Order: sequence, then structure tokens, then C-alpha cells
Amino acid sequence: MRRPFVAGNWKMNLTRDESTALASEIVSAVGSGGNCDVAVCPPNVYLHAVAEATKGSSVGVGAQNVYHEVSGAFTGETSTEMIKDVGATYVILGHSERRNILGESNEDVNKKLHAVLAAGLTPIVCVGELLEEREAGRTIDVIKEQFTGSFANISAEQLGKCVIAYEPVWAIGTGKVATPEQAEEVHANLRSIMTEAFDASTAESVRIQYGGSVKPDNAAELLGQPNIDGALVGGAALKADSFVAIIKAAG
Ligand code: PGA
Repeated sequence: MRRPFVAGNWKMNLTRDESTALASEIVSAVGSGGNCDVAVCPPNVYLHAVAEATKGSSVGVGAQNVYHEVSGAFTGETSTEMIKDVGATYVILGHSERRNILGESNEDVNKKLHAVLAAGLTPIVCVGELLEEREAGRTIDVIKEQFTGSFANISAEQLGKCVIAYEPVWAIGTGKVATPEQAEEVHANLRSIMTEAFDASTAESVRIQYGGSVKPDNAAELLGQPNIDGALVGGAALKADSFVAIIKAAG
């Protein structure tokens, strides 16, 4: 049985005070945790403050990106050890905004994935097709290519420690959510791709979140699909009431 996992991707939003206030509200609403894992991913500069605000609770904290090198002359970058040091345990990798706006390739995601796993952090690896790729009937090919490139030279044991997020790019921040059938089709395909590349029991154990305009009113139907194991939430994660409603729909 895969335990549902809902994570909030705050992107480049909120002030420090707003971040800690939101984290505290989520902690009080979630309590000691129900049937769902929960994490929030603030901007790096607020990781420490948010980790302090969630300390001792069941709400985890994640970074939105990391650099693959351990330390050195990499101006502006943040290492896995630094992220761990300030209390985060998750890292989002390969978000479509990083792939499409900041030019991250599957190879970059793969290097980061190796670094994150070596540090004992839990990666949330994002994959997803552009609208023109979907319209050209290439969705599954694109997902397979992203999965294969991002997970190169990863063992089955390591894959078992990962979370994957399927985020169709056309559904992110647009209010245009994938239908539960469209999302389930890709999730089921991702599981077959993992079975083929690794083995069935590992593939069955990996949690696959859906992301892209998840809101309280569509969460239950999406999360009710057999291969959808949670959500990666952007806009609706910036307010405690909508984020908590999505958590409740999951668990
Ligand atoms: P959205 O973002 O919920 O605002 O569509 C999701 C994401 O980018 O992770």
C-alpha cells in the first residue's frame, strides 16, 4: 500500500513572516499526521525558518532545487549538505519551470538526483509534457525519455527511495487540470516504464504525485485514481485552508 503524499511547492512566493505563519497554520491543522505524508517547499532562504516552524511536527520541509556538487566555487548554488543542515529532508528536482525557463536537462536532473540520494534526502522528480507534445500524441514518449534520462544509473533500491511527480506543463498554474483519466493514463504508463526498467515490486512501491492546478474541488477525484498517490501543489498550497483541504482529500 502506498501512503499518500501531498507536497506544497511555494515557488518564488511569500515573505519570511508569511512563510512561517503558513507553515504554523498547516502544522496546527495537520496535527500529528493522518494517513498522508505532508511537506512544504519554501524558497531556500526561508528553509531554516520554516523548518523551525514545523519542528517536531509531521510536516516535512523540502527545497525546490539543489546543486549536484558537494562544495566549492559555484556562485549562487546550494548543496545537499546545506539543505540538510537547515532542516529540509526533501528536494524537488526537474520541475518544469527549471527545465523550461532555466534550461535544466535530463542530464542535469540525473546529476542532482545522484547527489540528493547520496545525501540521504528524498527527491521528488518531476516529469511532464508540453501542450504541443500532448497534441502531437507524444506524451508517453516524452515521459519515458525524461524518466530514462533523469534516472540513469540509478539502482532499483535507490528508485524505491524516490517520489515522482507527473506534472503536465499545460496544467501548471493555468487552472487547466488534467482529467483524472488523462492523469491516470500517464501514471499507469510510468509504472509500466519503471517495471520494464527495474522490477514490478519496486515500480509498485514508488509514489507518483500528480501536479498541475490541483485544487480542493478536484483533488478527491484525481487522488481517487489507482496510480495517483498524492499531489504536488503550487497555487493552492499558498493558503492553509486550500492546502489542508487537499491533504484531507488525500488521506
Ligand atoms: P499549480 O503548480 O498547482 O499552481 O498548477 C503545480 C506545480 O508547479 O508544482
